[in-house]
Amino acid sequence: MAKYSVENRLIWLNGEIVHVNDARINVLSPTSQFGLNVFEGIPCFWNEEKRELYAFRLNDHYVRLMRSARLLHINCSYSINEISRALKDVIKANEYQEDLSVRQTLFVEGFGSWASKEPTGMFVAPIPKKMTSLEYNKIGLNCCTSSWRRINDVSLSPRIKCGANYINSRMAQLEALRNGYDTAILMNEFGKIAEGPGSCFFLIRDNKLVTPLITDSVLESITRDTVIQIAKEMGICVEERTIERTELYMCDGAFLCGSSMGITPIYSIDKCGINGDSDIIKEIHKKYFSIKYFSIVRGTGEHREWLTVVNSKY
Ligand SMILES: Cc1ncc(COP(=O)(O)O)c(C=O)c1O
Repeated sequence: MAKYSVENRLIWLNGEIVHVNDARINVLSPTSQFGLNVFEGIPCFWNEEKRELYAFRLNDHYVRLMRSARLLHINCSYSINEISRALKDVIKANEYQEDLSVRQTLFVEGFGSWASKEPTGMFVAPIPKKMTSLEYNKIGLNCCTSSWRRINDVSLSPRIKCGANYINSRMAQLEALRNGYDTAILMNEFGKIAEGPGSCFFLIRDNKLVTPLITDSVLESITRDTVIQIAKEMGICVEERTIERTELYMCDGAFLCGSSMGITPIYSIDKCGINGDSDIIKEIHKKYFSIKYFSIVRGTGEHREWLTVVNSKY
């Protein structure tokens, strides 16, 4: 059992570990007023047998964080070593022994405007996986196609992970919930399939795994890349190509995936049933995530290089 409940947890803020209620920022700061921040949700997986907690593809998350900051001209004064030390310190302080999603956010503080580049701050906040959003903890999903279009690279780039991008995700997710669905699938400005509000989309057709191109208005997702790599290693044919809406209703299986969501099969789209029993999806899921068997994220499968132990002494 974690020593600290979510309301009582400890947060790393600008170099110090503080109680969540004492972690304060300026209400007039650009991050508070304009969503001027970039962030990562870093998944960590608990291995009960070894009593180790593994951050999955930690360095790749930090590379994306730095790229997001660079695109938005947010100055980051921390090195990757320092921010990874911060993550380890806050996990150690909270004594978590369970699956986590760790929010690591670089934000613009002070009294500036939406055009300010500094001063910057950072916080690191671990969230137990089961306390993340409902749609991230479901076994299967009933989805709708959203009436909202995914943001695009000539207005607000979906390629990076910044707080403001989630307003578009919010619109789609709230519309889906209002209409009785678990989540949504957004199309891009051209009416082609893009992604979920917080996840990437894959479908199965003729035993091939198909996912939208990285230039079809999607986040440069680490799970997307992981699934593509694992599938290829399993001998599954992977196509990265534009997907049309009608393919959603004719596919042989589909799933959403992301660091928070893991790999979650889709049961239906716009109330049209989808075969939730696809062997390809089951095999990929088992290899990536399975709790009982051989599993990459728990350190009992291949790709140990993707794991960083974050609860050991250093
Ligand atoms: C819009 C969107 N697409 C895809 C993803 C999945 O990205 P990743 O696999 O890097 O978590 C996320 C995750 O937050 C997201 O917000």
